Parts: sequence; structure tokens; C-alpha cells
Amino acid sequence: MPLRIAVLASGRGTNLQAILDAIAAGTLDAEVIGAWSDRKDAQALVRARDAGLQARAIRPRDFADRAAHDAALFDALDAAEPDLIVCAGYMRLIGAGVMTARAGRMINIHPSLLPDFKGLHTHQRALDAGVPEHGASVHYVTAELDGGPVVAQARVPVLPGDDAGTLSARVLGREHPLLLETLRWIAAGRVRLHEDGVHVDGQRAAAPLQLAATDRFA
Ligand code: GRF
Repeated sequence: MPLRIAVLASGRGTNLQAILDAIAAGTLDAEVIGAWSDRKDAQALVRARDAGLQARAIRPRDFADRAAHDAALFDALDAAEPDLIVCAGYMRLIGAGVMTARAGRMINIHPSLLPDFKGLHTHQRALDAGVPEHGASVHYVTAELDGGPVVAQARVPVLPGDDAGTLSARVLGREHPLLLETLRWIAAGRVRLHEDGVHVDGQRAAAPLQLAATDRFA
């Protein structure tokens, strides 16, 4: 059975599109069962609908507090019976309550080499810090913002003359293959979360997998 993926997204949805395109091309053995968002106007929802999928906005302002919104959102997700929830540009904090029950079944893609630059504006912060290298990470979601165990990373150089726009475009170009390769390994059962961290091929991983220029893990 293909891996059933639910996508949570707040914005333009290029990571969602990369997943849809890979499945359509036969390079990812998975099924997207729908997209959910905190924003009605998220382009990600349009992309999901265009692919014939269910796409639903569940807006925080329609609920009394974070816990009530999280509960409604995750009830809706659970009803679709995903094997894996992929946060692909979901820009809201998720409360610890819903996280615990889904440990090891929810991943996030974040545009930095974690644990560096958790949170927002990662590209500008990388430039301000003068780091020679930047990139993206896929990690399991825990209650700590951008703090869960890292599965895999893709690295890019920071080049002279870069601004946040050029750097974010370079990172985004690697985010898509990074997410797809991570999903292939999860779908194949090669990556799992255990209590002591990420396991790859049955062994505790000492360090995150690294995406090579071939778009495969080195
Ligand atoms: C990506 O940079 C992702 O790493 C971050 O939000 C952005 C989402 O981009 N979490 P898109 O909506 O998939 O185009």
C-alpha cells in the first residue's frame, strides 16, 4: 500500500507540488490524501484542488483558542487516516497536546541547517551571521519549534552578493529533492523515529542523512 500523506501548508505550496509531481511521474510511491491549511487563501489549497484532492482551510479565528483550533484541524486530518503528516510551509505553532499522539508520524521541512536558525527569516539571519553554508532540514515534529530529531539535510553555499531572495531561491531548489528523497526512505520503511532518535535501516543515525548532488542520500 502506498504511504498515505496528508499535507499541512499555509502558503504557496511548492513543496506540495513537488510531492504531487513526483507521484504523478512515478518516482515516489505514495498518495497525497489531501491538503489542510490555516489560511483560506493558501495557494497550496488551489494546487491540491487542481490535482483533484480534498483541500480544506480550518481558520484559527473561528476557534476560541489554539487548543480548540488544533483539535479541529487534527480531527479533520485523522478522519482522512494519514500514515504521515507533512508540514510543508505550515506557519503556525502546533500545541504540544496534538503532537504527542502523533510522534513519529509528522515531519516538517525547515529552511536552515538545524539546529541553526530555528524560526522565521532564516535566510536573512544566515546572511547576517556570515555563515559560508546554508540549507534545509527535514525533521520529525515535536513540541519544540523546529527542534525535533533531524532526518536529513541539503546544503548550499552562501555566495558573495547573495541577498535573502537569491539565497532562499537556492535553498528552495534543494528543498524539493530533499523532501522527496526523505519521503521515499520513509515510504520504504528505511527511516523511523524511535525513542532514542532517528533510525535508518534499523540503526540509530549518528547524524542527519545528507542529500548529494544526485538528489539521493550520500
Ligand atoms: C519552505 O521554505 C519551507 O522550508 C518552509 O516554508 C516554505 C514553504 O514553501 N517551512 P512552499 O509553500 O512549499 O512553497
